[in-house]
Amino acid sequence: MSFKVKDHYYKKAKRENFLARSVYKLDEIDNKYNVIKKNDRVLDLGYFPGSWIQYVSAKIGNDGLVVGLDIQEINTKLLHIKNVELFRSDIFEVKKLVDLNVSSPFNVVISDMAPKTTGIKCVDQDRSLGLVEEVFNILPIFLGVGGNFVIKIFDSQQAQTFLRANGKKLFQEFYLYKPKSTRSVSKEFFAVGKKYKNQG
Ligand SMILES: C[S@@+](CC[C@H](N)C(=O)[O-])C[C@H]1O[C@@H](n2cnc3c(N)ncnc32)[C@H](O)[C@@H]1O
Repeated sequence: MSFKVKDHYYKKAKRENFLARSVYKLDEIDNKYNVIKKNDRVLDLGYFPGSWIQYVSAKIGNDGLVVGLDIQEINTKLLHIKNVELFRSDIFEVKKLVDLNVSSPFNVVISDMAPKTTGIKCVDQDRSLGLVEEVFNILPIFLGVGGNFVIKIFDSQQAQTFLRANGKKLFQEFYLYKPKSTRSVSKEFFAVGKKYKNQG
């Protein structure tokens, strides 16, 4: 079953010229929760190779902006797109809006970041939660009040506890969701926050 799913979305992505099958996860999330709209300014954490960038760029239109950040080398295939800006950096190094060449917070922050996996379940879960905690740390800097949020996380008791404690506190609406296009063997899921609250 898992191979069928992989095969279907992998082939579909190739056919539709997307850089990764992950695009269908964001597509499902966005269709269900209306996270991204025309003219939005969007921050994509862990964008490489860039299928989410392709999706967002088309959705926001020419007056929007999508900024991508990843530790991997800049994907030059995306550089010709007018409303896209890419940075090579570690999430743990980015602390200010000027680090991303912007002067005001984003309308939407999305993160598909995944740690380098070891195959040791609890290590991978801890690393994934470490990335998620860092995103929550920098959220007050990068996400504007009223903004929307999507983040991937490997499932664990600690992850569930962390998200349930922080999600409702920080967002007017908060959901946990596993897209159908996620491989059935995968333990990842997504948290979706809508209408970021004023923390001041
Ligand atoms: C699953 S991929 C993202 C796929 C992407 N959403 C797409 O649609 O093409 C996860 C990415 O997270 C990045 N990543 C992991 N840890 C990171 C960190 N500390 N800072 C920035 N990027 C990171 C990885 O380099 C990897 O490219």
